[in-house]
Amino acid sequence: SIKPVVLCGGNGTRLWPLSTPRHPKQFLNLLGASSMLEVTLARVQGNPVDGLSFSQPMVIGAERHGELMGGLAGNADILMEPVGKNSAAPVAAAALSADVDDLVLILPADHDIADLGAFHRAVLAGAQAAKTGSIVTFGIIAETPATGYGYIEAASKSGDVIDVVRFVEKPDLETAKSYIASGNFFWNAGIFLFRAGDMIDAFEAHAPDILEAVSAAMPTSKQGTAASFDTAAFEACRSQSIDYAIIEHHDDLKVVPVDMGWSDIGDFQALWERSEKDENGNVLIGNVRAIDCKNCYIRATDTSISVAGRENTVVVAAGGEMLVCDMHTVQSVKELARA
Ligand code: GDD
Ligand code: MG
Repeated sequence: SIKPVVLCGGNGTRLWPLSTPRHPKQFLNLLGASSMLEVTLARVQGNPVDGLSFSQPMVIGAERHGELMGGLAGNADILMEPVGKNSAAPVAAAALSADVDDLVLILPADHDIADLGAFHRAVLAGAQAAKTGSIVTFGIIAETPATGYGYIEAASKSGDVIDVVRFVEKPDLETAKSYIASGNFFWNAGIFLFRAGDMIDAFEAHAPDILEAVSAAMPTSKQGTAASFDTAAFEACRSQSIDYAIIEHHDDLKVVPVDMGWSDIGDFQALWERSEKDENGNVLIGNVRAIDCKNCYIRATDTSISVAGRENTVVVAAGGEMLVCDMHTVQSVKELARA
């Protein structure tokens, strides 16, 4: 069986003021009645298809979100970080906390996947490659030269599991355009599957200092299902993402191309695209009135909002803050975000 490990230490600043450092997007009911974390955990329960079964999941996130994680993580084990050190450290911890021969599936806590069947078939296909020593990535058909993703160059265009020629994390726009034009590139879904022992070897080869710091910080006791890293030892760890620390440097990478209706719900445009709309393309949530509006995302959590005559506009009120912005400038929200 496969051990799912959900990373949920991110901040989601482009969805401010819905998402805040105290209550980031993975703990919010962004799409429907459950939080992103609950939806992520629900994807990796039990025995969804023949030949694929998941063991007890683990959730790794920030100590300051301990209560949020505890409330939403169900039966999962919880591992808490005293400070955020980006994603390499928790991936090392995931590998160290498993048996060397266990297969570990790393999952971001904040993605939408529309086609669960396609996701499960892809994980099953990847498991074969992971058993024989590869680190497996999942490739999304790259449609636009987005610069917020990792790019995976595959040795060929089709196949269930393909050799990776190289992995480039967040290229600049020109580079991304050339990748899209060349055809054999996928976006990295941010989901990784590997044998625990192989990931530990990869850390020894590419980021031994992170492995050493995390090993020293691994918790020695648990309170219920929750455990914490040693603060001083974890604070000494270098902060880097798994993509830069390991994936860009690793030789034995495979990609499983998967068309699963994937979306990194990173900004209000992506959230609007995935949400249920009225006949005018508006998403209206909470105490909201809209007249003569088209393709707007208007959401009120603690006040009422009334809008007339707007198109492609985001209006969001939450936690005593209000955001108004054009649907096409949603990337700048991170510069407006306040703690
Ligand atoms: N536990 C923990 N601690 N989790 C963290 C931390 C941390 O300090 N920092 C980030 N994470 C979690 C986030 O919550 C998210 O689930 C995941 O790690 C990825 O981090 P992001 O910060 O969202 O990364 P990204 O979106 O910029 O890039 C990654 O995802 C893209 C797909 O969405 C990369 O893997 C890209 O290559 C990929 O294309
Ligand atoms: Mg992300």
